[in-house]
Amino acid sequence: MEINIIHNKSCLDGLKELPDACIDLIFTDPPYYQYRAQNVKGLKNHKDVVTEFEFDGFNSEDEYLQFLEDVLTECFRVCKPGASGYLWCGDDFVSYLNRIVERVGFQFRKVIHWHKTNPFPAIYTRKMYSNSMEMMVHFSKGIPKTWNHKSVNEMHNFIHSPEQYNQQHENDMAEMPNFIQTPICMGKERTKHKTQKPLKVCLPYIEISSNQDDLVLDPFMGSGSTAVASKMLQRNFIGYELSEEFCKFAEQRLTDLG
Ligand SMILES: C[S@@+](CC[C@H](N)C(=O)[O-])C[C@H]1O[C@@H](n2cnc3c(N)ncnc32)[C@H](O)[C@@H]1O
Repeated sequence: MEINIIHNKSCLDGLKELPDACIDLIFTDPPYYQYRAQNVKGLKNHKDVVTEFEFDGFNSEDEYLQFLEDVLTECFRVCKPGASGYLWCGDDFVSYLNRIVERVGFQFRKVIHWHKTNPFPAIYTRKMYSNSMEMMVHFSKGIPKTWNHKSVNEMHNFIHSPEQYNQQHENDMAEMPNFIQTPICMGKERTKHKTQKPLKVCLPYIEISSNQDDLVLDPFMGSGSTAVASKMLQRNFIGYELSEEFCKFAEQRLTDLG
């Protein structure tokens, strides 16, 4: 098993090559299957209603959900007992995915909400709210073996600032909100990958649910955010990405880290 590398292949093929129980944490952001785009093509500037991505090419909702179930079945097999998993998803599918993670054997734990402080603005005439929230399902193989929440809370702005968090929770440092607030990926961090997750929504959860030298799996690496965050936190990583171009973005980001 070659680790600390993003394999340029389908995760369905790659996962089958992994031995049982070798993974400490899954952190992943699969395609969201934003099929509604097909229904709004007639609208002028429909791309600001929902965005289409070339890697979202499923023929139906059933095909999409079966694909994720096949991936998650393999994920369950390769996870060590006590491993946690985090799975980003669109609001259309969150409750389906809660059921799927349980069907393949994981325990569903909580849905985590990311509030994007700079979402693409809603267009008044469309009578739609802006898409300012994304969700992530947290699950585990049995009871999570790792939970480093206190040290993480000191390092990251879970609410608006650590001071505010500490004031609100002075007597209850055991509380950990299922909410994170930060802008979408911007500036020097941003590659040309259209759905790149900011490191700020990766680092805290990887740090909470894994330890140094653990092995973190991301079946859908994209521009490599999980790999970069894992390397920053001195975790090992393994992952897959179909697109050669995105693998190159990831390689560059990992090289830039030094
Ligand atoms: C939502 S993006 C991930 C973005 C990533 N979190 C980042 O920060 O850059 C999903 C990625 O999964 C990849 N993908 C789709 N199907 C795949 C498959 N079967 N195996 C591996 N990667 C796949 C797509 O090319 C896309 O880059």
